[in-house]
Amino acid sequence: MLRIAPSVLSADFGALAEAVGEVASEADWLHVDVMDGHFVPNLTIGPPVVRSLRRHTGLFLDCHLMVTDPGGLLEAFRDAGADGCTVHVEVGDTARLLARARSLGMRAGVAVNPETPFEAVEPFLGQVDLVLCMTVHPGFGGQRFMEEVVPKIALVRRALDEARLVDVVLQVDGGIDEQTAPAVVAAGARMLVAGSAVFGAERPWEAVAAIRRAGAAVLPGRAAPEVRVARRSPGAG
Ligand code: DX5
Ligand code: ZN
Repeated sequence: MLRIAPSVLSADFGALAEAVGEVASEADWLHVDVMDGHFVPNLTIGPPVVRSLRRHTGLFLDCHLMVTDPGGLLEAFRDAGADGCTVHVEVGDTARLLARARSLGMRAGVAVNPETPFEAVEPFLGQVDLVLCMTVHPGFGGQRFMEEVVPKIALVRRALDEARLVDVVLQVDGGIDEQTAPAVVAAGARMLVAGSAVFGAERPWEAVAAIRRAGAAVLPGRAAPEVRVARRSPGAG
């Protein structure tokens, strides 16, 4: 199964409720990009906005914390209605942060920047509900997909499969659209975050469906498309 999480970072912040309504029928989760102006050079959403979003949707609110000190914020996000929080492995103290998120009743994720190697997240695979491989440098929507990250996605997939961690979601975020989705799904991603490709589209719900179709086409075990051979009458040609 392939799931799609539209990122509201690329939506109109002055009309977030409408934006959420535009994708609600097609989206599996809603991805919320939290930036502190320190871990990344941009400043976005905090718990008050998550609280407002919560009032407008029953979708799983997947909070991606691009912040230097997530520990002090986890409880506030939980109280605001976040369903899951993902912390970056680069900020350190990862085991404690993951345990804290879970003890607050949220799903816990670990994110890894493009240049951070697989080995940095490997020790935490048994302690997470989600692994997020960034395919852009975090901070802004609308950047170019970094295909050099694809081998790392495959390493995470293999490690999860070998450890039979079947419930851990392998998520990819950054530059995902119809063109780039097949490569990350083929490498093992099972949840795709997409911002500009969704909210930059005239019909965001159609964009979600199109990305899902493009990615799902390369899921393993999927039957090859049926090849229809025209029947020819005996003796013809
Ligand atoms: C980037 C964010 C992404 C962003 C993706 O720092 O983590 O979630 O919204 O946007 P696109 O899909 O436009 O790359
Ligand atoms: Zn994100």
